[in-house]
Amino acid sequence: MTQLKIFSHESPTKSISQSSKNNLKSDPMPSKKPTVLDLFCGCGGFSLGFQQAGFEIIAGIDNDKEALFTLEKNFKDTHSLNIDLSKQSWLDGLLSNIGKKQIDIIIAGPPCQGFSLTGPRNFDDPRNSLYLAVLSAVQYFKPTAFIIENVKGMKGLYNGAIVSEICSRIRKLKYNPNASLLNASNYGVPQFRDRFFIVGLAEELGYFTFPKPTHSQETYVSCEAAIGDLPSREYSLGEEKDVYDEVVLSEFQKKIKGSQKHLFNHVATNHKDFVKEVISMVPEGGNYKDLPPGIGESRKFNEAWTRYHSKKPSRTIDTGHRNHFHYKYNRVPTIRENARLQTFPDSFIFWGSKTVQNRLVGNAVPPMLGQALAYKIKKYLAEK
Ligand SMILES: C[S@@+](CC[C@H](N)C(=O)[O-])C[C@H]1O[C@@H](n2cnc3c(N)ncnc32)[C@H](O)[C@@H]1O
Repeated sequence: MTQLKIFSHESPTKSISQSSKNNLKSDPMPSKKPTVLDLFCGCGGFSLGFQQAGFEIIAGIDNDKEALFTLEKNFKDTHSLNIDLSKQSWLDGLLSNIGKKQIDIIIAGPPCQGFSLTGPRNFDDPRNSLYLAVLSAVQYFKPTAFIIENVKGMKGLYNGAIVSEICSRIRKLKYNPNASLLNASNYGVPQFRDRFFIVGLAEELGYFTFPKPTHSQETYVSCEAAIGDLPSREYSLGEEKDVYDEVVLSEFQKKIKGSQKHLFNHVATNHKDFVKEVISMVPEGGNYKDLPPGIGESRKFNEAWTRYHSKKPSRTIDTGHRNHFHYKYNRVPTIRENARLQTFPDSFIFWGSKTVQNRLVGNAVPPMLGQALAYKIKKYLAEK
């Protein structure tokens, strides 16, 4: 039997039977849409951008069951798979669920905690297993392209040695790597959010060129344009399934609200009076430095007590650290406000506790940024 070599963090020559290799001809109902596999999918922010650009999301893999619950609710035709990608057997788990499928694109947002490069070329350290899982998926499925997304800091880790090692492994797989730092605000996202992307493109297609920015300082989508229509939640916290205020909508608001009738995930946090008082002292666009001496002393770091500016994109949405406040109201943004600043449409509903919802929203690739990359990838698929 022909054996296919595949990357593995334990044995670089682990073999997988060729008989289980993906094969388009054996798919009884091949999809016309290009297909995507999402590794470390979270609730599916990155996937959503691809879906909006006309891709079919075959499967999303994560080991956070709460993230997968929200994925499942919002992607009815996608396999939502609870698999630990640090385990060598993860690919068997995937194949037993999706069968033989052509995967055109792999997208992946592995967490970068615990990266290690302890000796020369010591990338096979188990702590890097999550990256190695992405490379083994590429080796197995041979997609036309793949995208690895990470935080900005990844670029400089070990003085760039991690990224250059990943790129060298990508080349060995016969893909051309290209990397870039993108800021979401430059692609119509009402948020300053830097993310580092590595795109591997099948060798014969050359090097991927990143999409050109569509927005700049003069045309950024502001917080007000993104969330200004949502009910204030100053006098009542709101209900899980609620009603919209009838107000004139911005272009962004029209698009993100779509035909949604009920407003979900827009329940305000019940702050203590003294917290509201401190927040009220922070001017629009200000932070802890604007507080009088002796107030807000417990939190003094760049992001602390930051109030968004109505006329600018928001700061980077985090996983719920409660450092950022609405540009006008004396409270932290609701899940829906943060979801909008991340460009999730209002029809995308987040499930689980508020802590979970914050984590899912904050971890996501803004769908609109994903979409910009997806459209660019589509051009390469057409060329193929
Ligand atoms: C930055 S988030 C990805 C967000 C996602 N790309 C999106 O756009 O919504 C990273 C994800 O990796 C998942 N993860 C971390 N370790 C994992 C592992 N060993 N196996 C599978 N998933 C893992 C986390 O649960 C988390 O959802």
